[in-house]
Amino acid sequence: ALPRDLEGVRVVVSAGGTREPLDPVRFLGNRSSGKQGYALARVAAQRGAEVRLVTAHSAELPEPAGVDVLHVSTALELEQAVRAAASDADVVVMAAAVADFRPAELATHKIKKTDDGGAPTVELVRNPDILAGLVEDRKDGQVIVGFAAETGDEGGDVLHHARAKLKRKGCDLLVVNAVGEGTAFEVEDNAGWLLAADGTERPIPLGSKSQLAAEVWNAALALLKA
Ligand code: PMT
Repeated sequence: ALPRDLEGVRVVVSAGGTREPLDPVRFLGNRSSGKQGYALARVAAQRGAEVRLVTAHSAELPEPAGVDVLHVSTALELEQAVRAAASDADVVVMAAAVADFRPAELATHKIKKTDDGGAPTVELVRNPDILAGLVEDRKDGQVIVGFAAETGDEGGDVLHHARAKLKRKGCDLLVVNAVGEGTAFEVEDNAGWLLAADGTERPIPLGSKSQLAAEVWNAALALLKA
């Protein structure tokens, strides 16, 4: 059995990948399955936390026992739900893959092919950076954890980008996934590094998403107690 060391701790986890509609039948999306976020929620609940999970497009995953689950679709919906839930949370973990851009306009009818053989141009606008907004409005003592899925040929390259991202986003912890064959999007396992704002860096060995989740909660709990 897991330790009940998160009893009395209120956590919010985001999971899945947002979808930004182009027209009634099309969207811009990403490959996130929601598995990493669900594992975080499940492990936190098993360790006694009060868990709210805000999830985008992960409907095929079974809802973790004892977790309050809210389904959303777009980045703007995810932002609203996470911000509302975060207002009284001790820890917020942003494991969702949030679209950075959305189509500037939502076509009311299905976008049609034209006879001239041309292709439409889709104008995009920026979505809000939800993590940065959470950091800006954080309440005293709240721990904020970001994720980063980085591609890069060498570990050094990935970490270099991740360190810059940790500074830019201003969160307390950043979980860096190396996007690879058997890790990060869609698959059962994950691996990477855990970077802390105080400069501490730890590799997370290849293992299940639940194992990675346990590492994240250990680190978040240590910060909560500090
Ligand atoms: O769902 P799975 O299939 O299990 O895959 C898990 C995962 C790979 C999606 C997950 O582990 C992960 O890494 N999620 C973050 C993906 C990512 O690339 O994030 P990012 O580098 O675009 O963003 C960095 C951080 O800012 C993330 O915490 C993200 O939630 C947040 N963000 C990003 C954009 C935005 N507009 N608002 C945000 O809050």
